[in-house]
Amino acid sequence: TDSTGELRKVDNVAHRGASGYAPENTIAAFDKAVEMKADYIEIDVQRSKDGELVIIHDTTVDRTTDGTGKVNDLTFEELENLDAGSWKGEQFSGEKIPTFEEVLNRYHGKVGILIELKAPELYPGIEESVAQELKEKHLEKPQNEKIIIQSFNFESMKKMNDLLPKTPIGVLTSSRAHTTKQALQDFSAYADYFNPNYGIVTKELVNQVHSLDMKIGSWTVRSQESADFLLEMGVDAIITDYPDYVDPRN
Ligand code: G3P
Ligand code: CA
Repeated sequence: TDSTGELRKVDNVAHRGASGYAPENTIAAFDKAVEMKADYIEIDVQRSKDGELVIIHDTTVDRTTDGTGKVNDLTFEELENLDAGSWKGEQFSGEKIPTFEEVLNRYHGKVGILIELKAPELYPGIEESVAQELKEKHLEKPQNEKIIIQSFNFESMKKMNDLLPKTPIGVLTSSRAHTTKQALQDFSAYADYFNPNYGIVTKELVNQVHSLDMKIGSWTVRSQESADFLLEMGVDAIITDYPDYVDPRN
């Protein structure tokens, strides 16, 4: 319950999809998240050598595909021929690296999408490309399709806020240095969400973020214990590999 005694529901955000159960950042993991009734899927956006926006977490393809090399150095044709599922289990062989457009088309209106710009400093102009794609699909307005954009790169998020003033923006951090009164106030000038690693979450932090009219989403839940901790802290969103660890009654 919040200060007015109202029952407040926590948003259940499937981290890279339901990545505890299916290969992260693939259609299999996003479909699984929808099936598990997550409120949002979280996706990591990067860019191929020839300019296609693609969904993958690491800046190389080595860990999650059968290929090698930097995302930045591979063409979309090279990326789309990789197997992004087998590393998680043979039943997932043939899963592909999805495009940003494919994910927007398949899921908008069906589940919220928490869009992370991963290492945007490697992809000059990626903010403009993401903004354009969202505008074309009329997904840049507040709340309408539950679209949020976040990054560890704060300059990129300031830019994103200038490009899409109506789209909610989040800042990501693991650093306590970013939880001072001044730092939080600076974030609140352009961000709607302060999204910290759960290791730095306290009730005091949750209250401070709320008093600046921001929401707080925390990550990455991979145990029941950490889910219970964040529920107890009163965060607004829990970003989890296991959507079932976040009690749907909360
Ligand atoms: O959404 C928060 C979380 O995704 C940030 O960390 O490394 O999983 O992208 P990472
Ligand atoms: Ca992420």
